[in-house]
Amino acid sequence: MDDERILIRRAGPLQGEVVIPGAKNSVLKLMAATLLADGEFTLTNVPAIADVGIMAELLEAIGVRSERVAPDQLRMVNSGNINPVAPYELVERIRASINVLGPLLGRFGRVSLSLPGGDDFGSRPIDMHLHGLEAMGATFELRHGVVEATAERLHGADITFEFPSVGATENILTAAVYAKGTTVIDNAAREPEIADLCNFLVSMGAHIEGIGSSTLTVHGVERGELHATQHAVVPDRIQAATYLAAVAVSGGEVVLRGARADHMDMLLRRFHDMGLTITSIGAGAESSLAVWSHGQLRSIDVATLPYPGIATDYKPLIVTMLTVADGVGIVTENLYPGRFRYVEELQRLGADIRADGHHAVVRGVRQLSGAPVRAPDIRAGAALVVAGLAADGETSVAGVHHVDRGYDDLVGRLAALGADIERVPAP
Ligand code: EPU
Repeated sequence: MDDERILIRRAGPLQGEVVIPGAKNSVLKLMAATLLADGEFTLTNVPAIADVGIMAELLEAIGVRSERVAPDQLRMVNSGNINPVAPYELVERIRASINVLGPLLGRFGRVSLSLPGGDDFGSRPIDMHLHGLEAMGATFELRHGVVEATAERLHGADITFEFPSVGATENILTAAVYAKGTTVIDNAAREPEIADLCNFLVSMGAHIEGIGSSTLTVHGVERGELHATQHAVVPDRIQAATYLAAVAVSGGEVVLRGARADHMDMLLRRFHDMGLTITSIGAGAESSLAVWSHGQLRSIDVATLPYPGIATDYKPLIVTMLTVADGVGIVTENLYPGRFRYVEELQRLGADIRADGHHAVVRGVRQLSGAPVRAPDIRAGAALVVAGLAADGETSVAGVHHVDRGYDDLVGRLAALGADIERVPAP
């Protein structure tokens, strides 16, 4: 499985145009939401990433078939023959498998779900998902690692999250669309991918108010009233940020076609503080970003926060940029404990980083130096590739299967911009 490496050698400035694919953390949730209605769905702007394949396998086991009908297009057919059981072999491979809980419970009143796995950083409980659904009338029993959920028919409820959890917001939303009465979610997560899910549900016939805000109001419809739909997935702001970081450390001028400034506002401001020139072209689905960098960066302090704050998924990229910036930057992680595992890998490349608990102090060095490293997860893997662009000599990144989970041809896209990068089989 993990036999390939990505080899990177420092090249000159990056030039050209890169198309930003659809967002992993949206498409996986939209796929799960196809459980809500029978019929044929079409998703466009679907990224070619491994997690889409795993989610398709999970949904196939439950009863929804998927077929890639074009490179970025997925046709999904829900024939109504659903077995609401999510088996461990599939669930353990992907955190987003938890997203089948809301639709299955809302529509069929019972689910058997193995507890999810996903990225290996810290414990990632699902207590908020369960408490929210309990408030709507569901009951849960945990037996041998399997959550058995039942509900006659869910009813609306007022749910206030102690923390704006992305996954819990999504599961309550997709359960509430078929609940009897009105559900209000307060302190809801408001990532662009949540708004994308809301828009998808609305195009299926759901009634949702407050889309994009932290208070979502869902007026339930009768079971069976929602219908299949077509939808274009929002662009992936994390993949977009990866290309911005690549230009930041390499220098150059690149257009990110499809990237949306309105989804990345805070990050773009901080990248500006670091010395990048970024301009937004067009708006909405037609938008692009143009980035220019002379390769010399200034340090900043950054803390991760739920949207609209700086996403935790940007952090490995920011830490990597700080390793070659002028000065010292302090990075604070507020979402996950222990998500600094890649720091040791960056240190192998000569980075000067001290990480302790939720904080990392990054002192910029003149030059990283290439070495073999291993990707511990998706985002850290991409950050190590970016670090390779800034390092003298050759950097070899192992653990490529992590990168493939969330990146649509990172190597090909960077190579097309002029990076000296290739995939090679294991030595
Ligand atoms: N949390 C709880 N209880 C819950 C739910 C969450 O304590 O019931 C905690 C988690 O343990 C974590 C924090 O709250 O410390 C954030 O969790 P959240 O539910 O917001 O995140 P998630 O839905 O599990 C999604 C993305 C992550 C991204 C986070 C934060 C997907 C599939 N995953 O995870 O993306 O880091 O939101 O923005 O959408 C990635 O794409 O590489 C990735 C890990």
